[in-house]
Amino acid sequence: METLATPSLTAIHIESFKKIVGEQFVFVDEESLNNYGHDETENLHYSPEVVIKPRTAEEISAILKICNKERIPVTPRGAGTGLSGGALPHLGGVLLSTERMNSILSIDDRNLQVTTEPGVITEVLQNAVKEKNLFYPPDPSSRGSCFIGGNIAENSGGPKAVKYGVVKDYVLNLEVVLPSGEIIWTGSNVLKNSTGYNLTQLIVGSEGTLGIVTKIVLRLIPLPAYDVLMLVPFKNLEQAGEAVSSIFRAGFVPSAMELMEIDSLKIVSKFVDSTAIAITDDTAAHLIIEVDGNNMDLLMGEMEAISNLLSQYDIGEIYFADDAQQKAELWKLRRRVAEAVKLIGYTIEEDTVVPRAELPALIKGAKDLGKKHDFEVVCYGHAGDGNLHIRIRKEGIPNSHGNAVMTAALRELFDLVKSLGGTISGEHGIGLIQKPYMDIIFREANFRLMRDIKKAFDPNNILNAGKIFDLHT
Ligand code: LAC
Ligand code: ZN
Repeated sequence: METLATPSLTAIHIESFKKIVGEQFVFVDEESLNNYGHDETENLHYSPEVVIKPRTAEEISAILKICNKERIPVTPRGAGTGLSGGALPHLGGVLLSTERMNSILSIDDRNLQVTTEPGVITEVLQNAVKEKNLFYPPDPSSRGSCFIGGNIAENSGGPKAVKYGVVKDYVLNLEVVLPSGEIIWTGSNVLKNSTGYNLTQLIVGSEGTLGIVTKIVLRLIPLPAYDVLMLVPFKNLEQAGEAVSSIFRAGFVPSAMELMEIDSLKIVSKFVDSTAIAITDDTAAHLIIEVDGNNMDLLMGEMEAISNLLSQYDIGEIYFADDAQQKAELWKLRRRVAEAVKLIGYTIEEDTVVPRAELPALIKGAKDLGKKHDFEVVCYGHAGDGNLHIRIRKEGIPNSHGNAVMTAALRELFDLVKSLGGTISGEHGIGLIQKPYMDIIFREANFRLMRDIKKAFDPNNILNAGKIFDLHT
């Protein structure tokens, strides 16, 4: 368990913070401490001692200088939609919110790049570049509320990752405030870069443990003109998993390939009050398959070929989303599953990822484990990436974190994932709650390197300490 030899925050510290950002952006009232004490991770809650909302990199630099000198823990936070506890202030101290840093600074349509602050909502950024016919593909389900800065911290993915890659594939350059208060740019605004260690990619996915990202340069691509979306009902869950890899082996690269087990569909349909997808007794799961591009005839041909391929499986009637509204309705159902299942008690969410063809084995393993340990399991996620979200519900166990029964069961799941050649997080990060399982994936030499990197950036261990791994064990 990570602890810091830290004096508690004093009134003098609070006064200094107020001088830096302005009195109205420093909060110590109970309601604020409560609101910023949780994210979307399980039912976990840890109150910070103060919430600070800076506007600039220079203000963050001044705050970090004080915290570094005084050994005050700092937890950076975007929109608080994370699912691994990266933004939980589990050591108290300063909660530093980037919500006021919410400007898109420039869209460079000559070079197909955007420069943005971290507190911009991902969907707002996507819509802004879309107006210039440009495309920023990474689109986590929470894109309507999550921040681009949080996406950088966790190296987020989403449904489009299967064709277009994840956040790391779009980040060219970052302005970062280091725990010392120094402000650096990690790279250059170029598409190729062999100039020294790749600090940009080291920051991506580092979950706010190495520095605080204050400006982001992303590459963009031309917006595809068309997409076609279909929904395929499967009578057998594992067959749906098998069908996924057969589509790629046949030479197709869909722009989305999502799996929804029937229970997740039932729950989310009720939650959003939708009857868009008919729920029949003999359906075990649906695949949502999308293709995109600039030639409608080619896309229709591709969908027909994929449908023919899928006829070898035990499937029901394929549904084509005809217009923008039908597509939006299907995507709404998929995107809101996480919220819906959590609300009815599926509080524990895993983010396992295996090589695509191993997906049926992972699905079967997750279901068998549920039977063995007597918990309910519902599966959904980015099947095309082999990235399965496994949600778990067990009466009386609201959190996996700190629960011995759940920890033992999850270790079995992750051992299976490892044996299939996979890993424990594809896009949600390790944060606080996956930390106890990192030894399944890494050896001591891996930990030594990661600890040494952390020490090089943050020798006093003030920044998001105790996330991903413990510095002192
Ligand atoms: C999703 C989030 C939970 O795929 O990653 O819906
Ligand atoms: Zn996901």
